Amino acid sequence: MPTFLTPPPSNCTFYGGNVLSGIPFAQDHFDYVHQRLLVGAIPALEWPSVLQELVRVTRPGGWIEILESGAGYHNIGPAYHYLKKAWDAGIAQAGFDLSLMPHLDILLENAGLKNIKMRTVPMPLGKWAGRSGELMAIDIYNVFKGFKGFYTSQLNVSEKDFDAALAALPGEWEKHHTTYDFYLVYGQK
Ligand SMILES: C[S@@+](CC[C@H](N)C(=O)[O-])C[C@H]1O[C@@H](n2cnc3c(N)ncnc32)[C@H](O)[C@@H]1O
Repeated sequence: MPTFLTPPPSNCTFYGGNVLSGIPFAQDHFDYVHQRLLVGAIPALEWPSVLQELVRVTRPGGWIEILESGAGYHNIGPAYHYLKKAWDAGIAQAGFDLSLMPHLDILLENAGLKNIKMRTVPMPLGKWAGRSGELMAIDIYNVFKGFKGFYTSQLNVSEKDFDAALAALPGEWEKHHTTYDFYLVYGQK
């Protein structure tokens, strides 16, 4: 059970679970199913079965909505380019494929959904885009920071090189007006 700053509404219940082991609800149980930001949790080969499981627990006529991000950075600078090169060289071996995310509509279609709509939302990174850009930059900076152990232990990047690239990211986002794509897709069972 998560800790809350303010209590959730009384009609909300939280359950812990592992999406890779199935969702502990009967089939056709929900009118609406939402999944968000699990690209770093679901290996590429598991996506079809995870989506199949979302479909299973949705009632006929019900809706599934997914929000994800991937590797869709635009207007990038040398520090991101360096981190991306190291990432691309090692991530496939770890079983993840961020390039699947812009194709979530096809994955949902393959899972049997209809009336599928997909939208790509480019989120600006940095104060150049106002308060939302400033907050997004803090968030994504911390996502990269959280991957430090992965870069240094799995991707052959030294701690010194990682720290230098990380420190350069916010400045180059401001300079180049970098944006980062989010993918919003929904469909009906
Ligand atoms: C980037 S966070 C997104 C959290 C939340 N969905 C949101 O959008 O705010 C990824 C979450 O996935 C959870 N996670 C990782 N592997 C998982 C799995 N196999 N089953 C369920 N959740 C998992 C992590 O604990 C973490 O809370």
